[in-house]
Amino acid sequence: MSILVTGGAGYIGSHTCIELLNAGYEIVVVDNFYNSKRESLNRIAELSGKEFTFYECDIRDAEGMDKIFKKEKIDAVIHFAGLKAVGESCQKPIEYYDNNIGGTLTLCDVMRNNGCKKIVFSSSATVYGSNNVSPLKETMQTGGTTNPYGTTKYMIEIILSDIYKSDNEWSICLLRYFNPIGAHKSGRIGEDPNGIPNNLMPFITQVAIGKRECLSVFGNDYDTPDGTGVRDYIHVVDLALGHVKALGRALSGNTLDVYNLGTGTGYSVLDVVNAFEKASGVKVNYKIVDRRPGDIATCYSDPTKAFEELGWKAERGIEEMCEDSWRWQSQNPNGY
Ligand code: NAD
Ligand code: WQD
Repeated sequence: MSILVTGGAGYIGSHTCIELLNAGYEIVVVDNFYNSKRESLNRIAELSGKEFTFYECDIRDAEGMDKIFKKEKIDAVIHFAGLKAVGESCQKPIEYYDNNIGGTLTLCDVMRNNGCKKIVFSSSATVYGSNNVSPLKETMQTGGTTNPYGTTKYMIEIILSDIYKSDNEWSICLLRYFNPIGAHKSGRIGEDPNGIPNNLMPFITQVAIGKRECLSVFGNDYDTPDGTGVRDYIHVVDLALGHVKALGRALSGNTLDVYNLGTGTGYSVLDVVNAFEKASGVKVNYKIVDRRPGDIATCYSDPTKAFEELGWKAERGIEEMCEDSWRWQSQNPNGY
């Protein structure tokens, strides 16, 4: 059983590759290293003790992708490849729509032309927009996204749903991730952002290692227990294991499914800072600044559906997420 993993050199993709290899799948990884390093692939091989095939290819390159499908017998695709920075997407909407939407359309076309119609897609809690009240359930309305990145995820969900409606030989699983943090237990793979991190946990770990002076906490006047934003942080290894379960479902039938992958528990920014300090023994210098435009007060999942239908639930708590993020950062101060 051979699974194509697009964006497999990236943060979530690399952790998922390991869990797929551990589960006995053969994998073929495609990445263009736009936001990742080749070294992550060496470490996937090292940690899993298994070989896999890799192609450096842009998923928008229809000819290149077609050659890969012709050469490898691909049974299903897990599709991570895409651009993911919310702020950058507001500056570069053309690049975001081209890469995320153009890339997904080309991939699906090549898949169809080669008779491969099973795909697991990296969607996001961002598709719920800002009008729903947490805990967020899959049945709630989506849309009302506030930035081009979020809109690409919303649009791709619609595109994939339309593909399924047109031809129900497809099997499509949309996974809405909440806030992935943490790293593999070994400290050998983890999140390696370029430049100044946009997300909370890599910023915290870079302050702790001394690469940045101070964490800016974006607002403490939200309607939350301590006034700072509340999110559903999920360990990246739990997320990776969710993909293995989702893949099993996609391979076994012809369905269109959507699942939240979160823990169901919300933590505030200051909860995360405190948990991190406890786990690492390092003090995190922070200051309160203005709210970040586009942020909402609270966002957490109802993960019941994934448990009932996939038998998946997140097992790792906030302490372990912080310990593992810190092990990765402290063992790899400059990333890969
Ligand atoms: P990442 O940037 O670490 O990984 C994405 C990978 O895709 C990178 O290795 C990049 O080089 C590759 N890539 C990008 N465009 C490509 C293209 N056109 N062709 C081939 N490869 C390409 O990001 P991640 O955090 O691992 O996220 C993976 C997926 O999950 C993305 O689709 C992202 O939008 C989605 N997601 C991420 C989060 C998060 O907070 N990290 C939350 C929800 C959803
Ligand atoms: C978390 C909390 C911030 C940085 C984003 C995307 C979402 C998804 C996950 C892809 C918020 C606060 C952050 C900092 C801070 N990605 N914060 N100081 O915004 O929940 O979600 O990543 O799909 O689509 O929007 O994650 O990690 O940026 O922020 O105070 O330097 O930390 O205000 O409350 P977010 P985040």
